[in-house]
Amino acid sequence: MAHSTPQLPRIRILATGGTIAGAQIAGERGYKAAAFSVEALIAAVPQLTALAQLDVEQVAAMGSQDMDEATWRKLATRTQAALENPEISGVVITHGTDTMEETAFFLNLVVSADKPVVLVGAMRPATAISADGPMNLYNAVAVAAHPDTRARGVLVVANDEIHFAREVAKTNTTQVGTFASGHRGLAGLVHAGRLHLYAPPVRRHTSGSEFAARPPTGETPGPRRALPRVDIVYAHAGMGRELIDAAVQADARGLVIAGMGDGNLGAVALAAAAEAAKAGVAVVRSSRAGGGVVERNIEVDDDGLGFIAADELNPQKARVLLMLALTRTRDVRVLQQFFFTY
Ligand code: SIN
Repeated sequence: MAHSTPQLPRIRILATGGTIAGAQIAGERGYKAAAFSVEALIAAVPQLTALAQLDVEQVAAMGSQDMDEATWRKLATRTQAALENPEISGVVITHGTDTMEETAFFLNLVVSADKPVVLVGAMRPATAISADGPMNLYNAVAVAAHPDTRARGVLVVANDEIHFAREVAKTNTTQVGTFASGHRGLAGLVHAGRLHLYAPPVRRHTSGSEFAARPPTGETPGPRRALPRVDIVYAHAGMGRELIDAAVQADARGLVIAGMGDGNLGAVALAAAAEAAKAGVAVVRSSRAGGGVVERNIEVDDDGLGFIAADELNPQKARVLLMLALTRTRDVRVLQQFFFTY
């Protein structure tokens, strides 16, 4: 279905579901994600037709808790196809907020293009009082249609803020200001469609990413073979070794430790992680702290134990990068360089 006003930039909206398309259930406390079609979301914001000509495509209809590799690949393929269409200026992806940062970072690494790609969601369902989805969608289209947002990698728009895919994290279970970019800061602000852009990203992304080799038209961007299993293990006081051993037994090729503080594990779990690394499992130390750099060889002997430090990536983003990196190499030194590059 096309909604058009001539001369305006053409933006493709790829819909996947989430709370932005959610509906409250009469007489109940909860709501159902992905209840509305993308056409219904657009119809709720008639001002969009003054910003862009809109093409729409429903790629999935799910709560983003169910996001998986197959949907990531489909989304990457449909995003790449849209961006290679010379008539299309940018792509907006509607998505649940729970795993938006992971999808955004995956696309940031595998899609090859300088045109804007913007993910948008909402914390309140479409039927809520003061739903945040309509303004977020309006702002996302404004960002994707703006020529100055090219070559900034994949972006996330919510609550009047523009975030880089690498930096953004969901930090609150319910509040509309849930997204934060703690390390290197915001990509910009967007007020009712008016943009204020800050400095571009410093780490490699999209067309500069070695995981984004442009495939023949219509083929899936990203690695040709299935991503390897990478598990995340959350550290805590009094932690044993059982979960690390279980991941290894389940044939995980990589393990991301959501470590305490500077990516730390107690002695028992540390010994299990060291054994896993010795057995060839790529072990990345990230942190459960929610911010800060995990550096090499500060409190843990990474060189001696064969570990990789996650640098600034939180555990869920470290997992995305490690899955992609493991399709290239199992050499721990090279894997570490990926974490300093992306
Ligand atoms: C989801 O991630 O699909 C549910 C939560 C949300 O969209 O905010």
